[in-house]
Amino acid sequence: MQNILVTGGAGFIGSAFVRHMIEKYPQYRIIVLDKLTYAGNLDNLLPVHDEPNFKFERGDIADREVVRRLIETERIDTIVNFAAESHVDRSILAPDAFIHTDVVGTYILLDEARLLGVNRIHHVSTDEVYGSIPEGFFKEGDPLQPNSPYSASKAGGEMMVRAYQVTYGLHTTVTRGSNTYGPYQYPEKVLPLFITEAIDNRPLPVYGDGMQVRDWLYVDDHASAIDLVLHEGRPGEIYNVGGENERHNIEITRLILKLLDKPESLIRFVADRPGHDRRYALACDKIKALGWQPSGDLETLMEKTVRWYEQNEWWWRKIKTGEYLEYYKRQYGQRLADATA
Ligand code: NAD
Ligand code: DAU
Repeated sequence: MQNILVTGGAGFIGSAFVRHMIEKYPQYRIIVLDKLTYAGNLDNLLPVHDEPNFKFERGDIADREVVRRLIETERIDTIVNFAAESHVDRSILAPDAFIHTDVVGTYILLDEARLLGVNRIHHVSTDEVYGSIPEGFFKEGDPLQPNSPYSASKAGGEMMVRAYQVTYGLHTTVTRGSNTYGPYQYPEKVLPLFITEAIDNRPLPVYGDGMQVRDWLYVDDHASAIDLVLHEGRPGEIYNVGGENERHNIEITRLILKLLDKPESLIRFVADRPGHDRRYALACDKIKALGWQPSGDLETLMEKTVRWYEQNEWWWRKIKTGEYLEYYKRQYGQRLADATA
């Protein structure tokens, strides 16, 4: 491994992975390809921007010419694919971009890798491809039952990864991560949304009864798991990556309010997300057998996260303008008007 193409490296988890890799492996060159959609943000890469082994290129993973030129000119030998449309609510409002990037874009990366002889590809997937599980834990061999346009598009991309491994012998690996949190997360996802809204004493829109369960994974732990699989993962294998921190949404909401010393009267129960998965939970024995484990407990890492947003208003205040406000109104305007406390 020498020249690693990281797609979607200006997003939340991709940028954490890039910062991690630049610091840990100065001998690797990290080339980021990112379209800079609404969720891509060069501020996320400021800490590594001037490093000699870092390079940024703006472009679309579904653009074959762009992908081909970059693989050739940068002599890419490894691809790590984070690029995606990643927000479930937006996939319900407008699925097109999800098919374009998560399915077609993944296919273009695989196909150019095959044609140009890039033999190592890691694909970043999600626990949402399994669908919802009322009790117990999903294992890597379980059937996929995605329920939203987002999770269906992620499952579609994964199926192409599988096909390219089986048919053409590409050395692929896949990780299925659980709900990730930490610094630099776009404030549409529930945690940064609720933290930044609570800082401004604004209402927190909890979908349905708030009793849905998510498993919370700290972003640096997600990045270190991908690093480990990239180096130690077996060809064709899939690895679950969960934080082993299951919480009801309402518990997480109350924890955020407590950490910010804000009143629970900010909570509003609003109309549920259509097709809302009730619970995600992963069995993580396989990645643990490679030597990975989460770095800390949820309360400590959540406090660290909340303090980061308190101390980095420069980062999120400029995001919460323009297109963001239009999206917010569309997603929450009527919901909050009809809400119950
Ligand atoms: P994000 O939305 O913060 O970042 C996505 C990045 O991809 C952005 O920088 C965006 O500009 C870029 N991008 C989008 N379309 C592109 C295209 N066509 N070509 C090039 N770049 C493009 O997402 P994230 O939360 O960092 O998620 C990263 C990956 O991890 C995704 O594949 C997602 O499905 C997966 N994942 C996310 C979570 C989570 O909780 N956030 C959990 C498990 C898996
Ligand atoms: O599980 C992994 C997935 O986690 C990733 O693949 C996705 O990219 C990522 O967005 C995330 O998906 P979720 O739908 O679980 O995350 P989100 O932050 O949108 O919502 C988390 C939970 O909080 C979910 O049960 C819905 C609920 N929620 C969300 C929002 C935005 C609310 O109650 N109110 C809200 O306003």
